Amino acid sequence: MRQSLVAGNWKMNGTRASIRALLDGVLAGIGDVKHAEVAVCPPYVYVPEVAERLAGTPVAVGAQDVSDQDQGAYTGEVSGAMLKEVGCTYVIVGHSERRNLYGEDDAFTARKFAAAQRHGLVPILCVGELLEEREQGITQQVVARQLDAVLELCGVEALARAVIAYEPVWAIGTGKTATPEQAQEVHAFIRDRVRSRDAGIADGLRILYGGSVKAANAADLFGQPDIDGGLIGGASLDAEEFLAICRAPGAS
Ligand code: 13P
Repeated sequence: MRQSLVAGNWKMNGTRASIRALLDGVLAGIGDVKHAEVAVCPPYVYVPEVAERLAGTPVAVGAQDVSDQDQGAYTGEVSGAMLKEVGCTYVIVGHSERRNLYGEDDAFTARKFAAAQRHGLVPILCVGELLEEREQGITQQVVARQLDAVLELCGVEALARAVIAYEPVWAIGTGKTATPEQAQEVHAFIRDRVRSRDAGIADGLRILYGGSVKAANAADLFGQPDIDGGLIGGASLDAEEFLAICRAPGAS
């Protein structure tokens, strides 16, 4: 049985004050989340403060990105070792906003995945197709290419210490969620592709769905056999909404 994971990706949002209030709200209700593992991914600068606040609670901390390099003259970069030292468990790698707005390609993303694992972080590898790619009928090719870049660099064994998030780009921040069936089809495709290399790792691999998940649609999505929780953007900025997603049947 895979334990589901619900992770909030706060993206570039929040202030010290708003984040304190958000954490107070999440912690007030976390006792009612029975089964899902819960994590939040603040902007880098708030990670240490959030990690201190969440130490000893059931809520884990992740970062939203990591350098592919370990240390040195890389202005603006943040290493996996630094993230580990300040209390991160997880790190998002290859989010579509990194890929599409900042030109980060599959090979670069794979190197970030490897760097995260070198420092004991659990990467949450994001994959997903653009709207035009779905319309061209090449969703599976795109997702396979994104996944294979990591498999080739790191090997299938690396997925025993990683999470995958399927985030169709057309569903991110648009209010347009993939239907549970559309999402399930891609999740099953990802698991099968991993299974063709290692069945045990495929069965244990958590594959999250991301893209306009809300309390109102979470149960339908999380009820699918290959959906093991969610990566939540906008709705994770509201404590009540986020907790309702964490408590959704299928996650909890
Ligand atoms: P939204 O939930 O705001 O659509 O964002 C999804 C996402 O990109 C999570 O990483």
